[in-house]
Amino acid sequence: MFFASRYVQDPLPRSYRMPENSIPKEVAYQIIHDELQLDGNPRLNLASFVTTWMEPECDKLMLESMNKNYVDMDEYPVTTELQNRCVNMIANLFNAPLRDSKQAVGVGTVGSSEAIMLAGLAFKKKWQNKRKIEGKPFDKPNIVTGANVQVCWEKFARYFDVELKEVKLSEGCYVMDPKKAVDMVDENTIGVAAVLGSTLTGEFEDVKLLNDLLTEKNKKTGWDTPIHVDAASGGFVAPFLYPELEWDFRLPLVKSINVSGHKYGLVYAGIGWVIWRSKEELPDELVFHINYLGADQPTFTLNFSKGSSQIVAQYYQFLRMGIEGYKKVISNCMENARILRKGLEKTGRAQIVSKERGIPLVAFALKNKSKRSAFELSKALRHDGWIVPAYTMPADLEHMTVLRVVVREDLGRQLIERLISHINAALSEIEYDAPLVPTPKIAFTVEVTSSDDKDEASLLIPATSIQWKQHKPQTISKAKEVQVFGTKTKGVC
Ligand SMILES: Cc1ncc(COP(=O)(O)O)c(C=O)c1O
Repeated sequence: MFFASRYVQDPLPRSYRMPENSIPKEVAYQIIHDELQLDGNPRLNLASFVTTWMEPECDKLMLESMNKNYVDMDEYPVTTELQNRCVNMIANLFNAPLRDSKQAVGVGTVGSSEAIMLAGLAFKKKWQNKRKIEGKPFDKPNIVTGANVQVCWEKFARYFDVELKEVKLSEGCYVMDPKKAVDMVDENTIGVAAVLGSTLTGEFEDVKLLNDLLTEKNKKTGWDTPIHVDAASGGFVAPFLYPELEWDFRLPLVKSINVSGHKYGLVYAGIGWVIWRSKEELPDELVFHINYLGADQPTFTLNFSKGSSQIVAQYYQFLRMGIEGYKKVISNCMENARILRKGLEKTGRAQIVSKERGIPLVAFALKNKSKRSAFELSKALRHDGWIVPAYTMPADLEHMTVLRVVVREDLGRQLIERLISHINAALSEIEYDAPLVPTPKIAFTVEVTSSDDKDEASLLIPATSIQWKQHKPQTISKAKEVQVFGTKTKGVC
């Protein structure tokens, strides 16, 4: 018996050390199972784009493939073939100019982040190779993006020594302005990254306009700056809902595209894809050939081993749903997002910042409210089990705090209606709980000292400048030094 045994009476060792002795398997299961109950409920986690429900038949297939290492291609040729079919299906969906329909160039990754690292590296290598041939310096590569890009672009830039040149956002424009982006392109630019489905608001960037403006600039300068499209969430939305929208390989400068299989590709966490326009866009240096597992095997991912289940699941979804199924699921998500938007508008307190066209999500700010209210609403919804993140917008829009609800396949109409009623109740609670005392205003005079590292600075607040004016002006005796770091918005993925 487990619940009356010593295993639930003795405290677990406090230190993070491996226990000396073994315990029965049922007990290990129960202890972990019980503790995991304290996690949030994934189905109510509206913070994430990542799939939280799949059909039981697919769950079964995933379990069946869990013990296969995907990288053992010679040993698991069928799994490899399923991956190749997926790559080709996605390349076709993105209108890659394929001469032979089986020859698409791409690979399955752990997610869009790994896919972006690979695409970025391909741009960097291609640019460096060209500069070397031209006898020009190749040590200061940069990449142009909007300030709304997901943190993985910052990682790419930092991990691989590429300067990230971000186009600032402005009031009412929460995505990259293509004109400003093209103005920032110089001879050291390895590429421009456009986002199809901004993480913050779900909006699509105008890739067509970017392509046209960049084509003109390339013509004038003689450069051939390419475009990568980060279609992490939009890659499995746009082809089904807006087939006429030109954002993919129909545009000549689009050389690579990433998409997350685990977002609107409808697979559980752990699968992304990167597709190149053609073989020429993937420099040879990025491809390694190994033969110790059997036949010659090209590999161009950052990690070597990985599970096969996600690949199998992606293939299941493509086969099972087809274009018809994806269209139905995504249209349904859009309709539920529309109902949520209407419900929020009806409260009279929400300012919707997401667009109707884009990813099925609703991002909204609270009208005439302090920053704190958005965080309070997020916290109040947590009491009902909902996970709805509140976050501040990037540089130049930090005064805006936004809440975001991602509408996934498993967030049905019934749940949307419950969510709206919980938001209404939470909003009135926040009103009721409003502090009776006005928030004290604090005035600072600051001196900013920058350090060598561009992402870090320190704010020196001289002692004489801090005045506490709640009752009477008062000067704080000690000077205060505050570290300032440049970071991406946390909590949204
Ligand atoms: C636009 C965009 N790019 C990249 C990523 C990173 O994707 P992944 O979580 O698949 O690595 C995200 C995640 O939300 C995203 O929204």
